[in-house]
Amino acid sequence: PRTLRVALLGAGSVGSQVARLLIEHADDLAERSGVRLALAGILVRDPDAPRDSPLPRELLTTDAEELILGADIVIELMGGIEPARSYVLQALHSGADVVTGNKALLATHGAEIFEAADQVGASVSYEAAVAAAIPIIRPLRDSLAGDRIARIFGIVNGSTNFILDAMDRQGLSAQEAQRIATELGYLEADPTLDLEGYDAAQKAAILASLAFHTQVTIDDVHREGIESVTADMIADARRAGYVVKLLAVCERLAEASGDGVSVRVYPALIDREHPLASVHGGNNAVFVEAEAAGPLMFYGAGAGGVQTASAVLGDVVSAARRHIAGGVGVGESARQSLPIAPFGHI
Ligand code: NDP
Ligand code: HSE
Repeated sequence: PRTLRVALLGAGSVGSQVARLLIEHADDLAERSGVRLALAGILVRDPDAPRDSPLPRELLTTDAEELILGADIVIELMGGIEPARSYVLQALHSGADVVTGNKALLATHGAEIFEAADQVGASVSYEAAVAAAIPIIRPLRDSLAGDRIARIFGIVNGSTNFILDAMDRQGLSAQEAQRIATELGYLEADPTLDLEGYDAAQKAAILASLAFHTQVTIDDVHREGIESVTADMIADARRAGYVVKLLAVCERLAEASGDGVSVRVYPALIDREHPLASVHGGNNAVFVEAEAAGPLMFYGAGAGGVQTASAVLGDVVSAARRHIAGGVGVGESARQSLPIAPFGHI
């Protein structure tokens, strides 16, 4: 089959797993995409830095310009605003489709990036940017496009959920819980983004923009983090039958209260009987309330390298399918024949 050149920008917690899966699952991905996905290179700051996940040294580069030029699909997993913004725009202007997990970038410069993509007919996919492994972007953008969404709320940050949960259930100190979350690859390169609620606010801005067909940026979001939540507060909440969770709420206001949207992130007391109280560790849960569909719930891993890589690769396969003529349905017809087991178990 045809081959597409894939450029990967970043080989940290997520990027290293994306690279590994692109290499190890190359045959499966080719079958599902209808094209071979050739990893052309991986942009890093220091190709000789020691890495947890071994990557082919010959693929590592510091030359972003050359890597992006000539790529069919550019995967941006560097994080931060610059130089990520410039590289994404450069990729789009050279006609590449872009896949990114960068919520900071989209919640600040989303309009500029989507406009650049529209101008050249390229795509920007970002399933990994909100709630990591949980499919939530495509359901909002596609499956629910014919419905009217009234409210989205839930837990959209994995590291703070891990920290609050470990303080609540294991009695760990905030510092110890944060140390473990860091080891698990849950935190942003700058952990204050998680602890002070910026990461959740970026995700809430992205969700609200999609759900309400408008443009919400990080500046529009009311934000409080968990930095002032103490072990005593968590113990008091426990005694009163509550658990503390960092909540994100995106609401379409009724006409009577201003006919707009309200987007906010804050630590909230959740009744221990509420389903959100059972969201443990680095998991996330997002509730969507749609006029026709009614209430929907999305649950799963909200952080972590390999979990997030799943969402990234889903976007890469979709972008690859778009590249080939009549790509719709590729992968559907390429299903393999598996034996049907008479019984299953869970
Ligand atoms: P890391 O900090 O672990 O990795 C960042 C990578 O980008 C590193 O390989 C680094 O190079 C490279 N990089 C950063 N800046 C530059 C630069 N200026 N030039 C060249 N290379 C650069 O980040 P994560 O993998 O955790 O996250 C990546 C993105 O995915 C972020 O946008 C994050 O918000 C998002 N995301 C992360 C999730 C997670 O659970 N970790 C979940 C969902 C989304 P080097 O290796 O040399 O340092
Ligand atoms: N730092 C983020 C979190 C990674 O903890 O949720 C996933 O977006």
